[in-house]
Amino acid sequence: MSEKQSPIVVLAEPNGLVAEAYRNLRVAASRQLSQDKKLMAVVSAWPGDGKSMVCTNLAVVLGQLHLKVLLIDGDLRRPTISRVFSAQDKLGLTDSLDQGSAQLGYKTKINNLYVLPRGICTTNPANLLTPDRLRRAFQPLRDHYDAIIMDTPPMSACSDAILLGGNADGAFMVVSPQGWDGEVEARYSRQLADHEIPLFGVVLNGAKGGEQGYGYGYGYGYGYGYGYGRGYGAYGGEEKRKPAASRGSRKWPWTRPDDE
Ligand SMILES: Nc1ncnc2c1ncn2[C@@H]1O[C@H](COP(=O)(O)OP(=O)(O)OP(=O)(O)O)[C@@H](O)[C@H]1O
Ligand SMILES: [Mg+2]
Repeated sequence: MSEKQSPIVVLAEPNGLVAEAYRNLRVAASRQLSQDKKLMAVVSAWPGDGKSMVCTNLAVVLGQLHLKVLLIDGDLRRPTISRVFSAQDKLGLTDSLDQGSAQLGYKTKINNLYVLPRGICTTNPANLLTPDRLRRAFQPLRDHYDAIIMDTPPMSACSDAILLGGNADGAFMVVSPQGWDGEVEARYSRQLADHEIPLFGVVLNGAKGGEQGYGYGYGYGYGYGYGYGRGYGAYGGEEKRKPAASRGSRKWPWTRPDDE
């Protein structure tokens, strides 16, 4: 996702169906918020499901409620959020984790929205994501913000989302009907439960829209920005998505009756 490719749709089309869908998601998210529940991870099984896009738009609509919102780029391997906000060369999460220093994020041009970019530390993320380091990095943020939304890398690529999620108060899982496998998503949601990461909800992204404005009608049939075949950063051990023809042992559960 780049700024050019993907404007922040809730700002570009505030009266559109997609912005409305994000305001619905905001209701689900703000129900979870409290003094000690502020940090929500956004996870998904596969690259390109739309995590970074969902995170960004959710953070913007939460800011519209006059909450002070922080968007964390927790995708240390493919830091989309840092790129979208042109903050690739700024100190950020990896520096907090590495040095135990509290990076609190930067104000963006968007009302009430702050961003904590990936950071410039080059240590392998796998060595940075320990529970202690994460707790030290996140605690000051909890004192500073009303809501914190954290992007993560795909669960099929690495275990970062589980490690980061362990310090979050819960997670939203993004699924896209185009890439839906069924078995795999169910397995990853069980994995969240096994690690005691509450699943706050499932976000359907890129579904076929209808006149009634069902789901996220925006962009049905979009090409994912980067190929699944390319591997994820420097990590070769990722789970491979089955070819479409051999998927579908489970039917996409949110099909509308008139799509049958
Ligand atoms: N609903 C949508 N309509 C149109 N385009 C979309 C939609 N959701 C995501 N995209 C586009 O698909 C691409 C992938 O989205 P995004 O970067 O948010 O996915 P991601 O899950 O964060 O991927 P990764 O795991 O690789 O970081 C981007 O180009 C984004 O603009
Ligand atoms: Mg992303």
